[in-house]
Amino acid sequence: MEIGPYLESSERVVRPANASALSPGRGMTVVPVENGTRLAVINVLGSLFLHPASSMFEMIDELVETALRETPLVVVDVHAEATSEKVALARWLDGKATAVFGTHTHVQTSDARVLPLGTAFITDAGMSGPHDSVIGVEVELAIRRMRTGLPVRFETARGDVRIEGALVDCDAETGRATAIEPVRVLIS
Ligand SMILES: [Fe+2]
Repeated sequence: MEIGPYLESSERVVRPANASALSPGRGMTVVPVENGTRLAVINVLGSLFLHPASSMFEMIDELVETALRETPLVVVDVHAEATSEKVALARWLDGKATAVFGTHTHVQTSDARVLPLGTAFITDAGMSGPHDSVIGVEVELAIRRMRTGLPVRFETARGDVRIEGALVDCDAETGRATAIEPVRVLIS
């Protein structure tokens, strides 16, 4: 299925806010959670290897300010290759965002912590999907492509399915986090 029209119509799915303004979809959404509480979710793309249309650092302040006008609860998904970019963005947003989750590298990091000014952070939330794989791809196919350099059609692996992420405790009034715990659930 073409994802473009879906991104354009969905209120729940975000694409990187610093992708081209000409691409479909939105970089931020605000969703109801419970008891009238609302949560803003922002997605941005790091620069190393990923070629965003602009630096996430150029636009993150305006995005977070816009989100904070709607709700004190703001989660930023920083999709980046470099751990340094993810840590730097989280430190910049400390005390402004409720949580900063790193994604893209697929390996859950062991550094979940609440930063000094109350923003929860983990460098990489990990991978939800088949872990008997090369980050989701059938092992043999991924190895064949890397060994030969030839195009190989990737297929999704099936074994050792897990859900990974992190659980954040926060104050719904102030938006500040009080705890963060990595989550890993074995499914099959
Ligand atoms: Fe990615």
